[in-house]
Amino acid sequence: MVRHFLDISDFSRSTLQGIIDDSIQRKAIAREARLAPGPLAGRTLAMIFDSPSTRTRISFDLAMRALGGDTIMLTGAEMQLGRGETIADTARVLSRYVDAIMIRTLDAAKVEELAANATIPVINGLTRRSHPCQVLADLMTMIERQGSTDGKTVAWTGSSSNVLVSWIHAAPRFGFRLKIAAPAEYAPDQDIIDRARSEGGEIELGDDPEEAVRGANCVVTDTWVSMGDTDGERRHNVLKPYQVSSRLMALADRDAIFMHCLPAHRGDEVEGAVMDGPQSVVWDEAENRLHVQKGILAWCFGEAGA
Ligand code: CP
Repeated sequence: MVRHFLDISDFSRSTLQGIIDDSIQRKAIAREARLAPGPLAGRTLAMIFDSPSTRTRISFDLAMRALGGDTIMLTGAEMQLGRGETIADTARVLSRYVDAIMIRTLDAAKVEELAANATIPVINGLTRRSHPCQVLADLMTMIERQGSTDGKTVAWTGSSSNVLVSWIHAAPRFGFRLKIAAPAEYAPDQDIIDRARSEGGEIELGDDPEEAVRGANCVVTDTWVSMGDTDGERRHNVLKPYQVSSRLMALADRDAIFMHCLPAHRGDEVEGAVMDGPQSVVWDEAENRLHVQKGILAWCFGEAGA
């Protein structure tokens, strides 16, 4: 069976934990400059980007190379996709050329159609709906910094985003309580929360950032204006009270960490003093994208995990 990596909600905790454990091991190996002989030698990953990326693009490229494989970087616009060739036909053709596809496109349905028609693994490198690779790196960062995700409280303040949706998917699997503070018009869809709750997720949704952050072990936010959003000015006005400021951060647990998937906008969703302060682990998160991509690739190729 082909191993696609499309959403955290598709997997059991043991599979996801296996990928994270494998990523932590691969990180240690890389640090000691003892890279195992590349398990993906002779394999090629096609990377399709329909929207900009720094971290996802570079970390997948480097991860594939670290595992001994090769990469091809593509954009939809420079392929026949940009002139109307179907996703399904593109999936069939790429399946004859390369060994896996990582795609970033805002339309989640395109990723699902690609996976449904490909005979090789497809990895979701971000859609408007979710960002599973990012949140797996965030969970890895939490485990490194705090030992475990179990029994912890994660507070999200600000707009809903694809990253928050993947955090919601992770909540029932990783044993943490998720407290979300978002204004009603930028809150996550209730059905996503209901589904996670039905899977055992402890998720609270409100509009008070102080209530969400009080006592939290981990405070997370995201940019107020994501790719594809067209109401930037309104978002800035409505989301102002949700900024992660030093004052807000002081309400969290004294050992709390601050996370942000990046790119960040200091002065908007996060105060510079928090972003660059001692509780911020944003650079660990960014580095862990590299190690988690190795874990995901290894899992997709059957080199790790169940
Ligand atoms: N966090 C994240 O996915 O970064 P990029 O958009 O730079 O890939």
